[in-house]
Amino acid sequence: MSRPHPETISPTAHYTGYVWFAHGQSHEAFATRTGRLMYQALRGPNAAAHAIGWPTLEGMLLARHRLIDLRLEQAIEAGEVSQVVEVASGLSPRGWRFRTRYGKKLTYIEADLPGMALHKQRILRELGGETAHHRTAEVNALADEGPHSIEAICAALDPTRGTAIITEGLINYFDREMVSGMWRRFARALSHFPNNLYLSDIIMRDGNRGPFTVGFGWLLAAFVRGKVHVHFGSADEIEAALDAAGFEATVLDPRAFAGELVDLETAGASRVRIIEAAAKRA
Ligand SMILES: C[S@@+](CC[C@H](N)C(=O)[O-])C[C@H]1O[C@@H](n2cnc3c(N)ncnc32)[C@H](O)[C@@H]1O
Repeated sequence: MSRPHPETISPTAHYTGYVWFAHGQSHEAFATRTGRLMYQALRGPNAAAHAIGWPTLEGMLLARHRLIDLRLEQAIEAGEVSQVVEVASGLSPRGWRFRTRYGKKLTYIEADLPGMALHKQRILRELGGETAHHRTAEVNALADEGPHSIEAICAALDPTRGTAIITEGLINYFDREMVSGMWRRFARALSHFPNNLYLSDIIMRDGNRGPFTVGFGWLLAAFVRGKVHVHFGSADEIEAALDAAGFEATVLDPRAFAGELVDLETAGASRVRIIEAAAKRA
């Protein structure tokens, strides 16, 4: 059976893909050997940090993933969303889990750069193949136009149905200008649908300073090889930037959802926020 070629997958995508698998949120088709090795290497530091109440990378990743799941699920159940484009979906099993749960009621596009989109195609083939309701697409979140722009992907969807865009583990790799440009493109593409939703995780400076965060910050920087951008100081700044890009946004703190999220690690959850936004109508 074909497997993704590891060299074209970013190391963090391997790791996060394995975290979902290790916590029963995924299928082994999404788990890679590199992901398992990274997970095993970080298990010690994560367990030590967890034991003394420090934030862990794993705790942060699970908090962000589960809160995005929860808000998406609530929007689907409320009838507000029935089409989803997950941009930079990597080795995330979300599309597969939502397709298993909602079947034809939901159209789910797993979009990523060409190499990763190809890997996702192979994984989905192992899990029964792509369908009209669950398929992969090539996207470049930085493209203004052309067949791989978000505009083109959204234009091919049903304009009468509520539509969501999701990004997870993407924003903090882009500099501020790239993020603002991407948000403007997302707002424009979403504004044509009767209902729309944008969900994303983001790491901001608030809550990521002070002695307790030193270990976590070091681990995070090592993990992403120092290529992380923290653009905004506070939730207010994030909401203002999204407003300027064409969204009405709220920044959610996963700790406020402790009652609804299983096994929430409060310390890890405190390091991340979830953007929930709606594009202003065209
Ligand atoms: C850290 S991984 C996150 C994957 C997944 N969302 C997760 O949480 O596990 C980052 C992903 O961003 C994708 N990516 C990077 N630049 C991109 C771009 N310009 N457009 C679309 N995807 C991009 C990479 O291919 C990779 O799959």
